Amino acid sequence: MYYIGVDLGTSSLKLLLMDEKGKIQNIVSKEYNLYFPKEGWAEQNPQDWWRAFETGILELLEDYDAKEVEGISFGGQMHGLVILDDHDEVIRPAILWNDGRTKKQVAYLNEEIGKEKLSEYTANIAFAGFTAPKILWVKENEPENFEKISKIMLPKDYIAYKLSGAFCTDYSDASGMLLLDVKNKCWSKEMIEICKIKEEQLPKLYESYDVVGTLKKENAEKFGMNENVKIIAGAGDNAAAAIGTGTVGGGRCNISLGTSGTVFISNDRFEVDSNNALHSFDHADGKYHLMGCILSAASCNKWWMENILETKDYNNEQDKIDKLGENSVYFLPYLMGERSPHNDSNARGTFVGMTMDTKREDMTLAVLEGVAYAIRDCVEIAKKQDIPIKSATICGGGAKSDLWCKIIANVLNIEIKRLETEEGPGYGAAILAAVGCGVYENVESASLKLSKEKMVIKPEKELAEKYNQKYQKFRELYPEMKKLFGKLNQ
Ligand code: XUL
Repeated sequence: MYYIGVDLGTSSLKLLLMDEKGKIQNIVSKEYNLYFPKEGWAEQNPQDWWRAFETGILELLEDYDAKEVEGISFGGQMHGLVILDDHDEVIRPAILWNDGRTKKQVAYLNEEIGKEKLSEYTANIAFAGFTAPKILWVKENEPENFEKISKIMLPKDYIAYKLSGAFCTDYSDASGMLLLDVKNKCWSKEMIEICKIKEEQLPKLYESYDVVGTLKKENAEKFGMNENVKIIAGAGDNAAAAIGTGTVGGGRCNISLGTSGTVFISNDRFEVDSNNALHSFDHADGKYHLMGCILSAASCNKWWMENILETKDYNNEQDKIDKLGENSVYFLPYLMGERSPHNDSNARGTFVGMTMDTKREDMTLAVLEGVAYAIRDCVEIAKKQDIPIKSATICGGGAKSDLWCKIIANVLNIEIKRLETEEGPGYGAAILAAVGCGVYENVESASLKLSKEKMVIKPEKELAEKYNQKYQKFRELYPEMKKLFGKLNQ
C-alpha cells in the first residue's frame, strides 16, 4: 500500500509517495507564485495550491497503481490566514507566515492586551506572522471581507477541505494561530473574543495522526483512487519535518533550512520559554515542542544567487569558497523582518564590513554565515532556558549544501546529522498518513524507526572557536541597527 505526504511549502508543493516499509517511491514538486504586494507583505492564492495538488498528484501516481493509496496527510506552511465565505469561495489571497503588515495589531495584542495574558491564554505572545493579528488586520482594513468570513483555516487545511470536505486542523498547526490554548488543546475563548470571531468559524481540532475523513467521490474519480482513501490531519511543516527526522519525545533537535529557518526542540512536557522568545507549540506526536524561527534562511541564499547574482549554479558559487572563519563581511538575514529572537518587522537585510578587496565569494559566504548566526541566536535562547543542544538533525533545501552544513556545525559548535532523506515535512506527513492508517503503532516509534542517519558533521575545534568570535560580533549588529531600521520604515 502507499501513503502520500503533501508538503505545502512557500515556494512549491511537494508530493511524496511512500510504501508501508517507509521507502520513498516517488517525489513530485510543483512551483507556484509568491506575491509581495507591498514591502514586507507576502501572499499566495490558495487556488494555486489546489491546482498544484491536482496536477502534481496525477504525475506522482503516473507509474503506480493509484488504487493502492491508503492515506494522505500533510505538512503545511504555518500561520497563513485562509478565509472562505458561505459558498466556500476564497475571500482574499492568503496572508502568509512571513508577512509583516500587522505591526499595529501585534503592538495592540502585546502591549494593550499584554504579553502575560496572551501567554496565559495561548502559551505564546504575538508575532507579525501569527494568524490572530492577521484576523484583526482584515477586520480593521478590509471590514467587508471580515464580514464575509464563514471559515478560517490554515494553508494545508484548505487542501484537506477540498479533498474531503472536512473542516479541520491539527494541534501543532493550530498552535501558531495564537488562538489555541496550547496546554489544554482547545480554542481559547478569550482569544476568540479578542479577535471578535466565533468558534464556529474555526476548524475542528485533531491530533496530527487522526483520520479526519475520506476522499470525496469526485476527487476519487479524478485521481483514479478509491473513495475510502483516508485523509489524516497532518501537521505544521516544522512538526511534520520533526516526524520525518526522528525529532520526537524529549529533548531532540531538528534544524530546518527552508524558506524559513527553524530550531525545533521536541518536548515530553508542556513548557513555556520565560521570555516567550521561543514558541511553545503542540507536537505532531501528541506531545509538545519549543521552536525558534528565522523568517529568511535558504530564501536569503536564493535571493542572493538568483535575484542579485542572476545565477542558479549554486555549486559553482560555493566551490569558489575556500576559507572559513576569516570573512570580515557580515550579513543580517532579515529580508522579511525577523521573528526569533528580535520580533521586529522593521528589520531589513544588511551587508556590513565590505572593503575594496571584498570579493563576490566573500559576500556569498556572508549570506550563508549570516543565516547560521541567526540560527545560533535561536539556539542561544534555548541555552538560556537550560535546554542543552548537543546535536541536531538537519533538513530542508539548504541542508543539501555540504558547505552550509559544515558552517552550521561550526557556528553552533554541535554535531549536525544528515539523514538518508532530507525531505523533512513531506516524509513526516507520509509517516503520519501511515500511522493514521494503522501501519505503525504510534508516531514516535514510526518516526524513530524510519528516520535513518546518513552522516554526522562534527565541529572542528579551531574553526568553531573562530566562528564563536565572529558570532560575538554578529550579535552586536542588530541592537546597533534596531533604531535605524525603525526610522527607515517610518
Ligand atoms: C514557523 C514558520 C515557518 C513556516 C514555513 O513558525 O512560520 O517555518 O511554517 O513554512
